[in-house]
Amino acid sequence: MEMGKSRVLIVGGSGYIGRRIVKASLAQGHETYILYRREIGVDIEKLQILLSFKAQGARLIEGSFSDHRSLVNAIKQVDVVICTISGVHIRSHHILLQLKLVEAIKEAGNIKRFLPSEFGTDPAQMANAMEPGRVTFDDKMTVRKAIEDAKIPFTYVSANCFAGYFGAGLCQPGSIVPSRESVCLLGDGNAKAIFVDEDDIGTYTIKAIDDPRTLNKTLYLRPLENILSQRDVIRIWEKLIGKELEKSTISAEEFLTMMKGQDYAQQVGLIHYYHVCYDGCLTNFEIGDEGEEASKLYPEVNYTRMDEYLKRYL
Ligand SMILES: NC(=O)c1ccc[n+]([C@@H]2O[C@H](COP(=O)([O-])OP(=O)(O)OC[C@H]3O[C@@H](n4cnc5c(N)ncnc54)[C@H](OP(=O)(O)O)[C@@H]3O)[C@@H](O)[C@H]2O)c1
Repeated sequence: MEMGKSRVLIVGGSGYIGRRIVKASLAQGHETYILYRREIGVDIEKLQILLSFKAQGARLIEGSFSDHRSLVNAIKQVDVVICTISGVHIRSHHILLQLKLVEAIKEAGNIKRFLPSEFGTDPAQMANAMEPGRVTFDDKMTVRKAIEDAKIPFTYVSANCFAGYFGAGLCQPGSIVPSRESVCLLGDGNAKAIFVDEDDIGTYTIKAIDDPRTLNKTLYLRPLENILSQRDVIRIWEKLIGKELEKSTISAEEFLTMMKGQDYAQQVGLIHYYHVCYDGCLTNFEIGDEGEEASKLYPEVNYTRMDEYLKRYL
């Protein structure tokens, strides 16, 4: 542990992005705490992840969202709280749980920075997003309002597309492995998205927590060489496999019709692909005074380019 570095509590530390954030926190020398939720019960895989972090120096603090006191006690031991709880599988809970966390942080009164579970599209840019998927953006905005009303110092991390979902699936919903035969273009496939390696999300997030430049701001992860269209990502993959894929296209109208036939949870997921790949919602705005761009603030981070990322699928 290094002097002068904040002590960090990660809530949701065994999750997909939470794990990367714990890893980065340990790597950057922070005293790292993870909430060990009683509710995980006999989920032995989760426990193994937590134990492996403990072996690397993290401290597990037992607690539960249904025990306010346990949250306050956990929070009192640290300077920074990062929440990485799921936004997809527990949507109805997501907002409620985060509001509980905000309440506990407010009561504890010692937190220098709170990072709520965002890590995607900036919800502040999504006022015109479509139903029913917009619920994820609306929920995140409700949590932001609670944080700001409580005057809790914050940083919102807009991580854009996790490379493992959008990049590896060549921007095709329901696909997380790049195909070697064919690919379906969403519209003309030219809307620019932004792909970020999950470990880099962890690295940038932890760099931001003690940085005065990111206080009460949104940190956008926009590494320049990873601002790519679906066609760009496909070209990178084609070069790696030395072969051109067969291409078909789904128009915006066809996509929306297909989406309406899906169940609620799937529609909520699909709407992200729609706004990213047809509207270019990640890149159709400039970062204003309320934001900072991570690769500019931290040029020392040698972020993973998509050719390097996709090599693991060869
Ligand atoms: N930009 C993108 O492409 C993208 C993609 C996916 C997700 N995201 C965003 O990233 C954030 C994290 O998502 P994720 O995919 O990493 O999540 P995840 O792996 O599905 O879950 C993260 C954690 O949520 C906690 N959790 C789940 N159910 C819970 C419950 N009932 N009560 C309390 N805690 C519960 C668990 O914490 P424990 O570790 O304590 O068990 C779990 O490890 C979300 O805000 C999501 O919107 C962005």
